[in-house]
Amino acid sequence: MRLAGKTAIVTGAGRGIGKGVARKLLAEGARVHICDVDGERMRETMEQLSAFGRIDGQTVDVTQRDQVEAFVQSVAERQGGLDILVNNAGIAVFQPFLTIDDQAWRRTLDVNLNGVFLFSQIAARRMAELGGGSVVHMASTNGLLGEAGLAHYNASKAAIILLSKTMAIELAASNIRSNCVCPGFIRTELAMEGGMSPTEIASYQAKIPLGRIGTVEEVANAVAFLASDEASFITGAELVVDGGQICQE
Ligand SMILES: NC(=O)c1ccc[n+]([C@@H]2O[C@H](COP(=O)([O-])OP(=O)(O)OC[C@H]3O[C@@H](n4cnc5c(N)ncnc54)[C@H](O)[C@@H]3O)[C@@H](O)[C@H]2O)c1
Repeated sequence: MRLAGKTAIVTGAGRGIGKGVARKLLAEGARVHICDVDGERMRETMEQLSAFGRIDGQTVDVTQRDQVEAFVQSVAERQGGLDILVNNAGIAVFQPFLTIDDQAWRRTLDVNLNGVFLFSQIAARRMAELGGGSVVHMASTNGLLGEAGLAHYNASKAAIILLSKTMAIELAASNIRSNCVCPGFIRTELAMEGGMSPTEIASYQAKIPLGRIGTVEEVANAVAFLASDEASFITGAELVVDGGQICQE
């Protein structure tokens, strides 16, 4: 078990990729603390995953500094440390660029970027005091290439990638690594809420060299690797998990 004895936080773990990451980190031996803005989802995840290891959770909105501070502090104090942060919480709403209103723009940047900044800064301060750690951000292939209808989402994910690289530079002296996972199309509630028809999904899959949509488990495997000591010389990197989609025009 690659993460035995480590304490990890996973944000937005009430469903989808975050839930899969929490499960994988538990299976690798970590003590996992999850949070989600949706308390019901968060409790369901805790119940379902408690069979796999030591899991705890709290309702937290990643955009609220006081909530994030209280959560990180309680985890670090209870476990005597904090080794891994997975910034996974994110939202996406399809809207053509000309119709995006200020509220949708600000909310997307608030959750997807400001939330990552807040959690990273607060957790990294703790990690620095305690000897180091690993931060993994859930970016996206949309942070590397554009996609119509998602200008606010794409901008937030691109910003995370450079935030991560800057963290990698500044926090290296504190023995903290910072990396991104960039998933392509992964079968989750968020991806399916986009309302794609079976025909649209089939034509999307045809553009993926490996010929299919990815799974939550395949993203979780990449997160566990970057979080672990196996990635001890990797910082400021993007690990793309997309079946080869962005390799071709
Ligand atoms: N599904 C994909 O195809 C895909 C592809 C690339 C990147 N991603 C990224 O992976 C991450 C997870 O995506 P998913 O598909 O599992 O989404 P999801 O909607 O299934 O899960 C996201 C979770 O985050 C929570 N959340 C939303 N706002 C929050 C807030 N303010 N504070 C705390 N929690 C909050 C939600 O309640 C939800 O449980 C996101 O960052 C997303 O951008 C997903």
